[in-house]
Amino acid sequence: MTSGRSFYITTPIYYPSDLPHIGHGYTTVAVDTLARWHRQAGDDTWMLTGTDEHGQKMLRAAAANGVTPQEWVDKLVTESWFPLLETLDVANDDFIRTTQPRHEERVQEFVKALFDRGYIYAGEYEALYCVGCEEFKPEAEIVDGTGPFEGLKVCAIHSKPLELLQEKNYFFKLSEFQDRLLELYKTEPDFVRPESARNEVVSFVRSGLKDLSISRSAFDWGITVPWDPSHVIYVWVDALLNYATAVGYGNDPEQFARRWPAFHVVGKDILRFHAVIWPAMLMAAGLDVPRGVFAHGWLLVGGEKMSKSKLTGIAPTEITDVFGSDAYRFYFLSAIAFGQDGSFSWEDLSARYQAELANGFGNLASRTVAMISKYFDGVVPQAGPSTELDLAIQKVVADAATTADAAIERFRIDEAIAAIWTIVDALNGYITENEPWALAKDEAQRERLGTVLYTAAEGLRALAVLLSPVMPESTAKLWVALGAEEGLGALAAQPIREAGAWGVLRPGATVTALTPLFPRVEQA
Ligand code: ME8
Ligand code: MG
Repeated sequence: MTSGRSFYITTPIYYPSDLPHIGHGYTTVAVDTLARWHRQAGDDTWMLTGTDEHGQKMLRAAAANGVTPQEWVDKLVTESWFPLLETLDVANDDFIRTTQPRHEERVQEFVKALFDRGYIYAGEYEALYCVGCEEFKPEAEIVDGTGPFEGLKVCAIHSKPLELLQEKNYFFKLSEFQDRLLELYKTEPDFVRPESARNEVVSFVRSGLKDLSISRSAFDWGITVPWDPSHVIYVWVDALLNYATAVGYGNDPEQFARRWPAFHVVGKDILRFHAVIWPAMLMAAGLDVPRGVFAHGWLLVGGEKMSKSKLTGIAPTEITDVFGSDAYRFYFLSAIAFGQDGSFSWEDLSARYQAELANGFGNLASRTVAMISKYFDGVVPQAGPSTELDLAIQKVVADAATTADAAIERFRIDEAIAAIWTIVDALNGYITENEPWALAKDEAQRERLGTVLYTAAEGLRALAVLLSPVMPESTAKLWVALGAEEGLGALAAQPIREAGAWGVLRPGATVTALTPLFPRVEQA
């Protein structure tokens, strides 16, 4: 079922010194859902995530905890970051850590190649640095401190004091790439999405690019500059290269040719690194630029960007322990327009869980399976002649599948889910209108009852397929309950771009009891 079309998609690699919160979880489940969709469509899919383990932030956190930086990151990655993937039911193909030799060696080669090509030079530097961002801050992101930081310059994102650094550094000639970058944004209007992110990037690059400091000499927790061991490579250059080293850059040409270039999904906080610096680095090395960069918005808690450093961080397990991983995935991916900010609240989560998952989808599934058990001894009935009501459902299913796939192509997971949800709503309305419980009382309506319940079951078959990238766990349960596995094979093997076809579920299949997909949640 592989079409050969390559689809390589990445999350940012996270700083392991912050414990995973729902913001990291949001990006990760979005990328996982896109990857699962493409995988199920038969595309040659590869999903990468990982951790960004070098730099001053990590070094300081380790020192504060009295361990070496390597011990520190090993502990965090093992105890917190691998488990996040299980908590959220993520099916990544690879996990890269920037302290792995496969990465460190290739980063040195890459930087050396840029040096040999004349894109790197030595210079003096003095500027304000934010350790939280691991970045020399541009004027526009420097603000006056308040409270304990009164009188100091602080980072607009972290609200923590900036440090004045003065060093001899190596520089990357980023300024030489202004025209080529502008040309890229023009010829490939989808290179940066959404539109708002694209506009921001274009105006930033138009205003002029400065060369980029790409080494540090004041500390040594990083990858050594190959021609000058007194320097380590700037953590962002090191980090961005993960996307290439993970798929065999400089090491496995076959794998690299098969996977590269990638789509990158990132939060808008790190858009410029991905849409400006990274493509310029690739151009300098003579490699293909990414296929695209999609920047999503921030999760807001109480109106502010949620973050661990501001103590508004919420751990994903706080949500999954109560609602489950499917509900986590569904909630964030459906409730927030992908690309815009979204406010998280427990009230909103609870309300949507109850209305959309428990009462909407879950209830539709349980009552359909229960009625097939009761009226047809658990055997999916044959459909008789179709009425307009039945044909209308078939059309809703076909349209939803087409619309959802088109939305996924545009990375609009929220719109895909909204399209799929028209099936849930239409089927619930269809059941109410056709009153199968009334048909069941009249032997003369036996064939009609069969048509109605086949239509409901076949609609659920399409829902299971279309929702499996978003909610792998509950759709797998539904698939088994529908008796679909026997005739059709595993849910993950169902071609998602054909999910809208009608008449796939086989009459005669045996349904089995379905425990509630989204059980009632006790109010805390
Ligand atoms: O920046 N809302 O890592 P990081 C939505 N190591 N998404 C959020 C979020 C929020 N409130 N907070 C964090 C780094 N995120 C670098 C990346 S990539 C080569 C190197 C998500 O641990 C979002 O994806 O600070 C954001 O871009 C990312 O976490 C930042 O993770
Ligand atoms: Mg951050």
